[in-house]
This record gives sequence, C-alpha cells and structure tokens, in this order.
Amino acid sequence: MKQIHAAITAVGGYVPEYVLTNAELEKIVETTDEWIQSRTGIRERRILKGEGLGTSDMATEAVKELLQKKGLSPLDIDLVICATTTPDLQFPATANIISDKVGMKNAFGYDISAACSGFLFALTTGAQFIETGRYKKVLVIGGDKMSSILNYEDRATCIIFGDGCGCVLLEPDENGFGIIDSVLKSDGAGRAHLHQKAGGSAKPASIETVMNKEHYVYQEGQTVFKFAVKNMADVAAEIMERNGLTSESVTWLVPHQANKRIIDATRERMSLDPEKVMINIERFGNTTNGTLPLCLWEWEKKLKKGDNLVLAAFGGGFTWGATYIRWGYDS
Ligand SMILES: CC(C)(COP(=O)(O)OP(=O)(O)OC[C@H]1O[C@@H](n2cnc3c(N)ncnc32)[C@H](O)[C@@H]1OP(=O)(O)O)[C@@H](O)C(=O)NCCC(=O)NCCS
Repeated sequence: MKQIHAAITAVGGYVPEYVLTNAELEKIVETTDEWIQSRTGIRERRILKGEGLGTSDMATEAVKELLQKKGLSPLDIDLVICATTTPDLQFPATANIISDKVGMKNAFGYDISAACSGFLFALTTGAQFIETGRYKKVLVIGGDKMSSILNYEDRATCIIFGDGCGCVLLEPDENGFGIIDSVLKSDGAGRAHLHQKAGGSAKPASIETVMNKEHYVYQEGQTVFKFAVKNMADVAAEIMERNGLTSESVTWLVPHQANKRIIDATRERMSLDPEKVMINIERFGNTTNGTLPLCLWEWEKKLKKGDNLVLAAFGGGFTWGATYIRWGYDS
C-alpha cells in the first residue's frame, strides 16, 4: 500500500483593510519610521477595526475564500483546527465559532495554542488525521488579532505586530506530495521572556490586572531575538539535513515573519538565495499564527507542483519548528 501524505490542496487568506503605517505610529509612541524599518523590516501592518470583531471574523473570510476557490461546500469539511493566541473567547474554541459562522456543520474542531509556532504545530496535527486515512478534508487555520493584546504605549511591542489570518486545506495524497517531515520543539522555561501576565487561571482578570496593564504582550525583545535567531536557523538546517535537501533543491523558505533580521539569519544558515524567501513582513508585520499561511496565500500562484518548501517558525513558549512540504499543485 502506498504511503498517504497530507497535501495542501488550497489556500485562503484575509487581512483587514485598515493600514497602520510607521508614520502613524510616530504620532502614538516615541519612535521613527527609520528605527522600525532598520530594526524589524516593517513598514506597515493591518489592524482589524470594528466593535465585536475578533479572530474568527478574519478566519471566516479566509475560509470562505478557500472554499469558493476550491468549489467546496462548507459541509465537505471533516475537521477544523485553529491556531491562535488571540481566541475570540477563553472558551469555546475559536475553531467552533468559525465552523458556525461558515456553516461547516459536519466538522469537529478545536484550537491549538503555541504562539507564533501554532500554525506549524496545527499543520502537523492536522496531517496525522489525514495520514491515518480516517479523514479526507482537514482545514488548518492560523490567525491573530494581535492589536487586541498590544499596549500602544509600549514602543518595543506595538510596532511589531499586526492582524491577519490564513488557512489551508489538507487532503490525502498517495503520490509523494504533501507534508513530508517536521521537527517541532518547545521549552517552557522560555515563557519568562514572552508572555501575557494575566487573564488565565493563575491570575484571572481583576481591576488591578487591568490597571497594571497585565493583559498585553510582555516581551524581552533582545533575549527573544537571540533565541529566535539560533533556534529557527537550527531547525531549518536540521530538516534540510534529515531529508537530504540542499540550498539548490529547496525552492522556497517560508519563514515566520517576526523580524527581517531573524529571517535573514535563517536564510544564511540554509545558504539560500534571497529570491527563494517569502517575505511580507514589510506590509503585514508579525501576525503571529497568521504569518505562514498568509505567505502561502500570497505566493500560491508562483508555487509549482514538486517545489520543495521549508516552513520555519519561532514563538512564545518558547516553541519552534520546521516542516518540509513537497508542494502538490500548480495554480
Ligand atoms: C523588539 C526588537 C525589534 C527590538 O530591537 P532591538 O534591536 O533588540 O532593540 P533593543 O530592545 O535592544 O532596544 C534598543 C533601544 O531602542 C529602543 N527602542 C525600542 N523600541 C523602539 C522603537 N519602536 N523606536 C525607537 N526606539 C526603540 C529601546 O528603548 C532601546 O533604547 P536604549 O538603548 O536607550 O535603552 C527586537 O528585539 C526583536 O525583534 N526581538 C524579537 C522579536 C520576536 O522575534 N518575537 C518573537 C515573537 S514571534
């Protein structure tokens, strides 16, 4: 019997209309366009405006686009996995809210929380359900409304993140295309350097936690930067080595978009030409779980059947990983 791989067979994406430029941030916090661009590579990011709108609303748009492109009914979907750090609610899972909004009534669903590596972890999780032969259509979503947990008085964090969401459809493939291998890692000790201080069971929301601004992203930028540079490059190199990939045979690096300098370090470690790297950080910033699927969404038309893609991510937790995909279709 031939081995079943989980292949990506369609991609969807959504970014909100509102563009928050560096020039506008200059009016909010003590910063400059020059500083932001030279230290992060970011020029602008998208922000979801509108009362009551959350991550599920962006995901709903992305999923509807995917279904329409692929000519599928919402009822065709078996499973929905949503990777997010900014769920609509603490519970129920955002995946379920999305399923309800789109009408995916035959699907079960749940969320995955692994910060910026969440989409990669969700992709690997979704692939297992396909590889067993049990499920045929698994939707993996990654997205965040980071603006909902940013302190727009903290210039070191509010300049980095943006809102956006992407999704992919996984289906079985028996011809050697799809998700071939993954290296996934976490180290909980890293939580000290990147976290949200309150709002969970250890420190529920109170007047004090709100007054102390403990519901925002807390990040020790330099420490996170050092871990990200090393770990993302390490796993990317490891997945290449273990699959016999070379700088020539890798067609695309799809990196998490946290900082252009972290992306460059990973690319250099893989000895790749700059044209082989998907980069949209200058327009979207760091959309956390959204970065990888949004790259695939924007580059989909350039991808060819048989292309070798290496996806790599690093995020809070710490979590990090790399996935090797042999792309399965021409657009
Ligand atoms: C956050 C980050 C962009 C900051 O860049 P950096 O080069 O490390 O900058 P530092 O934190 O060392 O700060 C250097 C100086 O710039 C200042 N600074 C910070 N943000 C600034 C801003 N937006 N504008 C101007 N100055 C700023 C700091 O206050 C500091 O000033 P000081 O030297 O007077 O104290 C960078 O550390 C980073 O990208 N970290 C990793 C982010 C990441 O990958 N997160 C993972 C989540 S997926």
